[in-house]
Amino acid sequence: MNIRKRIEKLREEINNHNYHYYVLDEPLIPDVEYDRLMRELRELEEQHPELITPDSPTQRVGAEPVEAFGTVRHEAPMLSLDNAFSDEEVQAFHRRVCERLGLEDVEYTAEPKLDGLAVSLRYEGGVLVSGATRGDGYTGENITQNVRTVPSIPLKLRGKGIPPVLEVRGEVYMTRSGFEALNARQRKAGEKTFVNPRNAAAGSLRQLDPRVTAERPLAIYCYGVGVVRGWTLPERHSLMLEQLKAWGLRVSDEIRVVRGVEGCLRYYRDMQARRDKLDYDIDGVVYKVDLFSQQDALGFVSRAPRWAIAHKFPAQEALTRLLAIDIQVGRTGALTPVARLEPVFVGGATVTNATLHNEDEIHRKDVRVGDTVVIRRAGDVIPEVVSVVRERRPPGAAPFKMAGRCPVCGADVIRNEGEAVARCTGGLFCPAQRKEAIKHFASRKAMDIEGLGDKLVDQLVERGLVNNVADLYSLTQEQLAGLERMGEKSAANLIAAIENSKETTLARFLYALGIREVGEATALSLASHFGNLPALMEASEETLQSVPDVGPVVAAHIHAFFRQAHNREVIERLQQAGVHWPDLQVHRATDLPLQGKTFVITGRLDTMTRDEAKARLQALGARVAGSVSRKTDYVVAGEEPGSKYDKALALGIDILDERALSDLLQS
Ligand code: IVH
Repeated sequence: MNIRKRIEKLREEINNHNYHYYVLDEPLIPDVEYDRLMRELRELEEQHPELITPDSPTQRVGAEPVEAFGTVRHEAPMLSLDNAFSDEEVQAFHRRVCERLGLEDVEYTAEPKLDGLAVSLRYEGGVLVSGATRGDGYTGENITQNVRTVPSIPLKLRGKGIPPVLEVRGEVYMTRSGFEALNARQRKAGEKTFVNPRNAAAGSLRQLDPRVTAERPLAIYCYGVGVVRGWTLPERHSLMLEQLKAWGLRVSDEIRVVRGVEGCLRYYRDMQARRDKLDYDIDGVVYKVDLFSQQDALGFVSRAPRWAIAHKFPAQEALTRLLAIDIQVGRTGALTPVARLEPVFVGGATVTNATLHNEDEIHRKDVRVGDTVVIRRAGDVIPEVVSVVRERRPPGAAPFKMAGRCPVCGADVIRNEGEAVARCTGGLFCPAQRKEAIKHFASRKAMDIEGLGDKLVDQLVERGLVNNVADLYSLTQEQLAGLERMGEKSAANLIAAIENSKETTLARFLYALGIREVGEATALSLASHFGNLPALMEASEETLQSVPDVGPVVAAHIHAFFRQAHNREVIERLQQAGVHWPDLQVHRATDLPLQGKTFVITGRLDTMTRDEAKARLQALGARVAGSVSRKTDYVVAGEEPGSKYDKALALGIDILDERALSDLLQS
């Protein structure tokens, strides 16, 4: 084949892989194979520089650094959006839309509102010719050389009917995982770290040297168009987005068409519930009237369209004052510094405590008592101190120093080489560790003793009624009824719950023991490997390491746990008190019926919880994954399944409903 043809063929192949990888999220080939194609293309182009074209996939990082960005005038202004902060404001928006259109109801496209940087991309003849920031909406900065380095921005569009001029608009952002990795890299290199993914994306896109931008993990989602020549737009915004996707532009797969205000609000709540699971930050959702004819009829007010609105999530960051740094002692003795704060409303709730992670983090962020700090509260995640406003530091604020003794029991504090965590050496003599061990034992995924809450455990330990988990089983109703906030009835209920917990499974029991590094999955693995407790207790470290999921560190923890006379005694007492479980038949991993099969669960199940379904599938040898890919064998879809369901459909993966799952588990 002649060289020119081979080069063209390689470019086409590479572009096609980019499309499958970035736009469809379904890579066709492994990375090494992709790298091989790129290498071949690079070599051929090096030998034949006359054949290099600017839209070749090798030419993403081309230009030299610039002194300053030029400006670009937006042919069609880049507008902004009005904001709604409550359901009522969205209802008012919908009412205005309906009134103006003289309609009862309207369909909207609902989209995630990405927290990044708006860009405009201009394609002429299908080739990317310029990229610009939003600027003031009328003129932006020319960042063409930088947008070219973003892998998910195609240098050339694909497919049929590409318009001669197409300006695409979208949000450039940084994934959270990319942000963490970038900050780790910056830290290592002694360079400044970024406060959040948005700032990191903005800083990266506005680098004068495109080679720096190319190193940053940026991505794009497209959500609209500006000037278009030679294309009659489809009837709907949603269809337009589909066409953009077909031309190779990356469009979020969280976008839905919804009806009326109920549809909008349902979408909002769904996204709000799932936002922490996304790998990128969103600060709300956007509703856009779907039919272009209706958009045109509605028009604009000043700088925002009447046909769209941003429905913002409550702010996740706020400023407040750090009153004190307390040390909390965890179940394994880990000492966690906790920030006591002047109460502040953030992320939809009032926050008074936030985690500071560990000593090193405090020093890295240079957090001192008295400081004004940025607090972040994202969904169910524990609020954290993000950074300090140095300008507002009161005079005399002293750097933090970790205590040398446990604040609860006074035992020595040690910090092992290479570990970030300082630990209390008091073990179960430390009342704090004792309390945490009991709370863990009683928790839902362990022995599941309903009604045995944190406050109650604190009281039981403080009054000396319970010193270890075995003592729970000799508590009497009279003893309980004497506690604060405990009536006869709740005391009786708790006794019944404790009684109930005696019937359990080996996996739950192992997890409940709170052996270090033995989480739910490892406990399950151990249970199905050994089948009974004595076999596990006598296993050598070597044998333990043959269990899937168990490495040398975990094996050492398990082995050490069962060598301690104190632990064996507690286990014996628990069994004497009547705690029991059925022994399992030991299957070798390869005998298990679902061995080698990967499942993903989505939606709500009625007859069991998702955790339960997961545990039961795992017990049969299946792997249960968090996201759908080509490697997924089955997707279990309950009520109101999420995007995993759509993805399964798109990939042609077998879908099981709850009924089919039950049948499978029973057979
Ligand atoms: S549409 C006329 N859609 O939010 C419509 N904007 O507050 C203009 N943004 O400047 C924008 N996600 O940077 C639109 N799905 C989305 C968006 C989105 C994020 C940003 C964009 C815009 C700002 C307006």
